[in-house]
Amino acid sequence: MLTLKGRKVLVGICGSIAAYKAAYLVRLLKLNGAEVRVIMTPSALSFITPLTLSTLSENPVYSQFVEDTESGVWNNHVALGAWADVFLIAPASENTIGKMANGICDNLLLATYFSAKCPVIVCPAMDLDMYQHPTTKDNLSRLQSFSNQVIEAAYGSLASGFIGQGRLAEPEDILRHVLTFFNQKAFLLHKKIVITNGPTVEPIDPVRFVSNHSSGKMGAALAHQAFLAGAEVKIVSGPVESSVFSTYTEVADVYPVTTAFDMLHQVDALQSWADIIVFAAAVADYSPKSVAAEKIKKSDSNIILELVKNPDIAAHCGAKKKPNQHFIGFALETVFSESVILNKLHSKNLDMIVANIFNRENPVFGSDQNEVRLYTTQQAPVSFSKQSKDEIAKHIWETYGKWYL
Ligand code: C5P
Repeated sequence: MLTLKGRKVLVGICGSIAAYKAAYLVRLLKLNGAEVRVIMTPSALSFITPLTLSTLSENPVYSQFVEDTESGVWNNHVALGAWADVFLIAPASENTIGKMANGICDNLLLATYFSAKCPVIVCPAMDLDMYQHPTTKDNLSRLQSFSNQVIEAAYGSLASGFIGQGRLAEPEDILRHVLTFFNQKAFLLHKKIVITNGPTVEPIDPVRFVSNHSSGKMGAALAHQAFLAGAEVKIVSGPVESSVFSTYTEVADVYPVTTAFDMLHQVDALQSWADIIVFAAAVADYSPKSVAAEKIKKSDSNIILELVKNPDIAAHCGAKKKPNQHFIGFALETVFSESVILNKLHSKNLDMIVANIFNRENPVFGSDQNEVRLYTTQQAPVSFSKQSKDEIAKHIWETYGKWYL
């Protein structure tokens, strides 16, 4: 069954009598599992109350750049656009369509539209003569030429008393479109994916450890994008910040681990379940030979910490990879070397390597952006310039799809 579980739908409502239908649309989206946020244009407020929409969406409704001038709380249009998997503007009025098509940005909904990177679906609603006007037609085709989708207005009786084309498409039809939209992109539908992620933490004593700067953001983005493409995802993750952990729980089953050995055991247990394993974890290569039972006392002399080699999880799994499984690894070298990358690809029996381009402009660890080059044994490498980790994750899956599906 198609579902919108885990999908983030931003609904934009414009000033049109059809705004009343948006309430039912929000309800349908919620019933189908979507997380919904609503933005209204100032004139939409005359048609339907934010209270109705906040109750139905279970989220605050936004209509102004600054909600409350006394407290100065600013609604961040960039964050709203970045949050959404799809921006659904329903009803889209003649006024808003015209502004969207011509770069006029005088309210929060329009600012969100111009800054959003997610796909946008526009559902016009207006009187029949307005809908037929050449300017309207022109503006709608202009919006389509910018890769927006348009759900045509429906035929029927209009608020003006006339009969013709201009009614907002029925909420059930809009819902069907949104379900199909997500499903069309489901090229990983039913794929079972395990992702190792984050750092591992190797204790020295009860209060100290050896680890690295991995934030887990890249693996979280891969999990999110795999989920959006229809996959079933399990994440085996070392300790990460709560903001990263909460993105996991929306899209995957999570198996928290601490050390490289914990991670190895957990991934080993999941290996036979997986169609694809992504080794995105920055596994500590070494761990203290012994863990002190009590905190090591400070003294005046230096101490020597003996480190032993940790298991290589990717290589361990790679050695028993089944022919129908695909494994994707990561590489991060401070000095980029193609031969080192290709050597990892072969020695760990991987199908693809995501090589992080590490330099001063792209620190990789902790950053919200990344720049990568993808390698396989079969094709010439493909590079993706610096962009958000979510965009990079999308490219990685699309390239995987092109190469292996
Ligand atoms: O050999 P190197 O650590 O550079 O290889 C990186 C790749 O191997 C990554 O995909 C990483 O997740 C994986 N790896 C692993 N276990 C280790 C070390 C690396 O799974 N102990």
